[in-house]
Amino acid sequence: PTKKSKDGLLSASPPEEHKEPIGFHVNNDQSSVSITVVGASGDLARKKIFPALFALYYEDCLPENFSIFGYARSKMTDAELRNMVSKTLTCRIDKRENCGEKMEQFLKRCFYHSGQYDSKEDFVELDKKLKELEAGRVSNRLFYLSIPPNIFIDAVRCASVSASSANGWTRVIVEKPFGRDSESSAALTRSLKQYLQEDQIFRIDHYLGKELVENLSVLRFSNLIFEPLWSRQYIRNVQFIFSEDFGTEGRGGYFDNYGIIRDIMQNHLLQILALFAMETPVSLDAEDIRNEKVKVLRSMRTLSMDDVVIGQYKSHTKGGITYPAYTDDKTVPKDSLTPTFAGAALFIDNARWDGVPFLMKAGKALHDRRAEIRVQFRHVPGNLYNRNFGTDLDRATNELVIRVQPDEAIYLKINNKVPGLGMRLDRSNLNLLYKARYSKEIPDAYERLLLDAIEGERRLFIRSDELDAAWALFTPLLKELEDKRLIPEYYPYGSRGPVGAHYLAAKHNVKWG
Ligand code: NDP
Ligand code: BG6
Repeated sequence: PTKKSKDGLLSASPPEEHKEPIGFHVNNDQSSVSITVVGASGDLARKKIFPALFALYYEDCLPENFSIFGYARSKMTDAELRNMVSKTLTCRIDKRENCGEKMEQFLKRCFYHSGQYDSKEDFVELDKKLKELEAGRVSNRLFYLSIPPNIFIDAVRCASVSASSANGWTRVIVEKPFGRDSESSAALTRSLKQYLQEDQIFRIDHYLGKELVENLSVLRFSNLIFEPLWSRQYIRNVQFIFSEDFGTEGRGGYFDNYGIIRDIMQNHLLQILALFAMETPVSLDAEDIRNEKVKVLRSMRTLSMDDVVIGQYKSHTKGGITYPAYTDDKTVPKDSLTPTFAGAALFIDNARWDGVPFLMKAGKALHDRRAEIRVQFRHVPGNLYNRNFGTDLDRATNELVIRVQPDEAIYLKINNKVPGLGMRLDRSNLNLLYKARYSKEIPDAYERLLLDAIEGERRLFIRSDELDAAWALFTPLLKELEDKRLIPEYYPYGSRGPVGAHYLAAKHNVKWG
């Protein structure tokens, strides 16, 4: 159990290994789990957290004795919360007849408590309600901070002082952003650690919960044909591409303070890169995996302006429809220079990856929506068939594509003889398209991550030293961009982004996939 001092705070002595009751069993009659969604009236809670919890319930993944509390300042009754939540629940997993019934059962386990985020008294009231439902069982409590970052610490302080479990575990899921740079991130970590120990903090990066990102390690470490090729010897470059075909509509206020580099690159894409490039961990244990990720991040070269391009979308009219510029958003200052697009070339200075460019591209309001990892292999030395490709030797190289979304797939581009009497080659795909191979729908990332947090599995959550290493890479660049007020390259809404991204790739002898 969490060790508390008299006023309920965790002791200020150096955090020791936090001991939790061993083995949480899904159907353990003697224990209960309550999940408090702090900021339950908000966008993320409605769109992602409650639907994910319902999906877990539907799949019988939640423990027998569970309850869900919404907590926010808005005044709402339990019935009003249930009504709000019910609008975003779907029976998407399968169309089983009893879905409506399951929804009813689920909603009966949802409650609401209205309170301020900085009021210990309000959390004491929450604690009373939680105790009533726990009915004397071992109480395990998960708090999900689905609130703006400026109130994280207030909420953590009040929750830990007034509503942490007395005899079970207390865990807190923290949503991004984890600061804006090294300094603010370290300050956030220090503040969190005044009230929580590191193993109680679950920093969420929902990209780590995506099926194909989870599969990355399986692909590498359980197939003989990939791992031997996974180095500078055979890989020419690796690309991490995130693209959305819509702008920041509705989230401009948040976005303008962060920009695409903090919103996507420093977290989602960098996390995928670390998983992609890490050495084989000792085991699948969370700490072993996170140790390897930290090593990769620490081996990376700090980014400089020479290795980055930035862009911002401008208004564009197509087919009689005018798409807005980023600065048309009323919550964005008219003279904002915040990048909505960025391309970057990163390098890992270790024996495995020396000299291999890892390119990242992330943008909003582009021509398509996709998230992909593309691995471009080297040329076949002395390829007997080179003449088939004329001067465009790039066409002859293999490429492995891991499409994270949409239409999850893994495909390998190979050279193949076109059937017939002649000798003509083309590039074909060995294609594992998930929807053709697997009939079951892929769970949403939040489902996996919530379940992991309930089960105490930390593998897919970010440890504080990983976070420090990630910020160390990007902070000098972000500071330079902002101090010098560097002007982004403007690109039309719905286009492929700034031309500068192509020059950046060309500088490293790369063509974007
Ligand atoms: P919201 O802006 O919707 O805020 C959530 C709730 O917090 C609101 O309903 C409101 O509840 C309360 N709140 C909002 N602003 C303030 C304020 N200034 N002071 C006190 N309380 C406030 O946030 P989201 O739901 O969009 O996001 C929640 C967290 O998740 C954020 O940290 C965000 O960065 C992160 N996130 C969100 C994503 C999304 O898609 N929405 C994606 C990834 C991360 P009330 O007024 O009832 O107290
Ligand atoms: C969030 C970013 O973390 O991820 C958003 O803040 C972005 O800007 C979103 O739109 C993308 O997530 P997904 O799962 O829809 O690809």
